[in-house]
Amino acid sequence: MSEAKKGDVILEVKNLKKYFKVGPNAILKAVDDVSFVLREGETLGLVGESGCGKTTCGRTCIGMYDKTDGEVIYKGQKVHELKGRDKTNFAKEVQIIFQDPYASLNPRMTVADIIAEGIDIHGLAKTKEERNQKVYDLLKLVGLNKEHANRFVHEFSGGQRQRIGIARALAVEPKFILCDEPISALDVSIQAQIVNLLIKLQKEMGLTYLFIAHDLSMVKHISDRVAVMYLGSMVELSTSEKLYAKPMHPYTQALLSAIPIPDPEIEKNRQRIMLEGDVPSPINPPEGCRFKARCKHATDICGKVTPKLVEVEPEHFVACHLFDK
Ligand SMILES: Nc1ncnc2c1ncn2[C@@H]1O[C@H](COP(=O)(O)OP(=O)(O)OP(=O)(O)O)[C@@H](O)[C@H]1O
Ligand SMILES: [Mg+2]
Repeated sequence: MSEAKKGDVILEVKNLKKYFKVGPNAILKAVDDVSFVLREGETLGLVGESGCGKTTCGRTCIGMYDKTDGEVIYKGQKVHELKGRDKTNFAKEVQIIFQDPYASLNPRMTVADIIAEGIDIHGLAKTKEERNQKVYDLLKLVGLNKEHANRFVHEFSGGQRQRIGIARALAVEPKFILCDEPISALDVSIQAQIVNLLIKLQKEMGLTYLFIAHDLSMVKHISDRVAVMYLGSMVELSTSEKLYAKPMHPYTQALLSAIPIPDPEIEKNRQRIMLEGDVPSPINPPEGCRFKARCKHATDICGKVTPKLVEVEPEHFVACHLFDK
């Protein structure tokens, strides 16, 4: 696989669909026609309520799930068609950090063995000493130490476990990491530490992140660009700056208005946008905008035509009939 420079597109997702058959006549459209790119060295935040398809989208992008339709291209190669050495190389370059640092680490293995699993699989250490040294270096890199190597995960706190999960991902010198809600299960006081660690590692190692979170406040600090998903579709995508300063999609506006602002004066005079109604079911969804039932701007066309994600201002994409004129 070729080397990419900072800013080059490394992952291209084109009209990706991932459907699950959940009954004789029921198709659950978890990811329905999603397109975006990821550039080398950036963090793209992927945000949306529970069940909107973030994990399915991320996992389909890294080939953990088959796709139903569309294409995912990593450095010029189709992810779902990789074979042989290319596949092995992809499995090394692309790693995942999971939400739950309790469930994702094997309780019967020592920390050293967990971290070194990828080193062993990909033959990255020639001797036992080299393997040990790599483990120690990784522990140090994530803010743990040598003494932790021979312990088991139950001896660690949630934050420390997530550091072990990060060390495991880094062990194979990846380029791209899918961070699937890596801080959601942690205490608020620990969340910033883990985000700062991920930012530091990104700078030092030139990593690219797809960073999943369920609310916009969590990704603000880390993301260069942010994508908002609603019920299997991407409704808005922009630079963090633009998205937070001028959210365009009614759903993004509602999500943002739910985040408290630390300035009491601004907070006092602010209008909250309440989201009414529940998220509709992704099973056999009707035509049209998925958000229409909860949108106060909805008109006839919203019930008939599914809006496409279009660039309404430079670097600002929105899927809403209010803007696609
Ligand atoms: N293997 C599966 N079989 C059937 N349906 C699935 C499967 N995996 C996910 N789904 C469904 O697909 C939809 C999207 O799920 P997904 O886990 O991707 O959402 P999410 O945005 O990551 O949610 P959360 O914030 O809770 O992690 C949900 O309706 C979910 O029930
Ligand atoms: Mg998820």
